[in-house]
Amino acid sequence: MTASGSDLASAASATVRRRYNRSARFYDREQAMMERVAGRWRRELWSRVPNGEVLEVGVGTGINMKFYPPGAQVTGIDIVENMLERATARAAKLGVAADLRQMDVQHLDFTDAHFDCVVATFVFCSVPDPVAGLEEVRRVLKPGGVLLLLEHVRSENRVLGKLMDLLNPVVVRVAGANINRETVANVYAAGFDEVAVSTRMRGIVKLIEARA
Ligand SMILES: C[S@@+](CC[C@H](N)C(=O)[O-])C[C@H]1O[C@@H](n2cnc3c(N)ncnc32)[C@H](O)[C@@H]1O
Repeated sequence: MTASGSDLASAASATVRRRYNRSARFYDREQAMMERVAGRWRRELWSRVPNGEVLEVGVGTGINMKFYPPGAQVTGIDIVENMLERATARAAKLGVAADLRQMDVQHLDFTDAHFDCVVATFVFCSVPDPVAGLEEVRRVLKPGGVLLLLEHVRSENRVLGKLMDLLNPVVVRVAGANINRETVANVYAAGFDEVAVSTRMRGIVKLIEARA
């Protein structure tokens, strides 16, 4: 596990790190109920991951590890050391040979066009500048490489969307995650095309597949 320089210290990223460092030990327990449903979405996402070099952004405690395809060489990054500690323990327990590193998706320490696929699940809601992060993801993907995201997003329902906007500052303060991110628009804004979206939970969760 290595930290990748001064980018980890930016004020917004420092806030994210503080929050997740505090909550890391509760994360799996908090997620447990949601995983009954989310586990199916994760399995579906990972079934689309090709063999080759795969980057998992925001690996967290390693909940996705049980779905890693045997033919993939996975590098997992996260900005939060306590999350990575748990991911490291989980990898050892499952016998998963992932390369885990501390890094901010907004400043990736990889050469251009390195990965065949980049995956993130429930991450871009808490990245301070999601478009900057997605631009970095596009930079490190090989031409034609695949981006796969599972994210909760702002509802397209007018009333619910407005309600999410109203509640967002409170949720950010308490949980550190934005509930009103327009992640599909952010994927386009980062320069991806061929974006395919399927929705879950009445559109609040989206599985997004895009090509670099
Ligand atoms: C809600 S958790 C999701 C963890 C895991 N992907 C999952 O599906 O359970 C969000 C994760 O994104 C990480 N994260 C937030 N901002 C990040 C950034 N700028 N760069 C890398 N990881 C980040 C957090 O530390 C946390 O582990």
